[in-house]
Amino acid sequence: MSADCYAVIGNPVAHSLSPLIHRAFARQSEDSLTYSFIETPPDGFASGAADFFDAGGCGLNVTVPFKSQAYDWVDFRDEYSREAGAVNTIKPTQEGFEGFNTDGIGLMRDLERLGWSPTGARVLILGAGGAARGIVGPLLRGSVGAVTIANRTKRKARELADEFEGVDWTGLDKIEGLWDIVINATSAGIDDEGAIVTRDTLRNALCYDLYYRSDGNTPFVRWAQAVASATSDGLGMLVEQAAEAFRIWRGYEPDTVSVLRQLRRHV
Ligand code: ATR
Repeated sequence: MSADCYAVIGNPVAHSLSPLIHRAFARQSEDSLTYSFIETPPDGFASGAADFFDAGGCGLNVTVPFKSQAYDWVDFRDEYSREAGAVNTIKPTQEGFEGFNTDGIGLMRDLERLGWSPTGARVLILGAGGAARGIVGPLLRGSVGAVTIANRTKRKARELADEFEGVDWTGLDKIEGLWDIVINATSAGIDDEGAIVTRDTLRNALCYDLYYRSDGNTPFVRWAQAVASATSDGLGMLVEQAAEAFRIWRGYEPDTVSVLRQLRRHV
């Protein structure tokens, strides 16, 4: 019998760590499966996904820039993907394609792993794009004390905050107050601009970057380190969101800590 096939689709996607992570999970569960990557042109998501499933694919992860196209493409959507307007995990069923978004769950599990309890915490989210959208609902359900969204373009901060009850918003240059947890959800760090907020904003806070880099700390983590009470990049979240996808597909909950340790040696 041939092995079950999984893949991640994106553009660019060759750098993705998902194949490494899922193959490590499969070794734990002693499943025989393959996990590859599919790079399609910007307008090629629908045909790429359809070809993969027509050939017998058992599950697909979706990454940049296709998560909102995947949201439109699937037949059913879970609560997390509806909130995020984005799908990162697709499972074929008899009734049609089910879409999930495991990013928010991934963040919450990684905060738990780090011992950063969100309960009652004053949380500041930097950014109001797709990455921010995916984490607001899970944070609110995690019993945080308060959530504020700060964005360079204030209108987008207001629009995102308005979609949720009790969420505040402000401009990146207007942040005031004290924060227990600050989460970088802007893509700014990717371009070496860590200093998107003043160090005063980050003082004594737990500072989490949704992103990670293979060549050392992210600019946001480097910027925060001087004043934060602790810092983390998003590699743990990447492993946790993958673990949730694996559970959705295969009903098996992998051990994430050992896989994260392996990845730290790799990246
Ligand atoms: P993603 O899906 O990764 O969130 P996105 O939807 O393009 O990507 O959103 C990018 C986010 O990073 C936005 O909040 C953006 O701010 P604007 O809405 O003002 O564009 C933010 N961002 C990107 N570059 C930035 C920079 N140099 N300084 C501050 N914020 C930045």
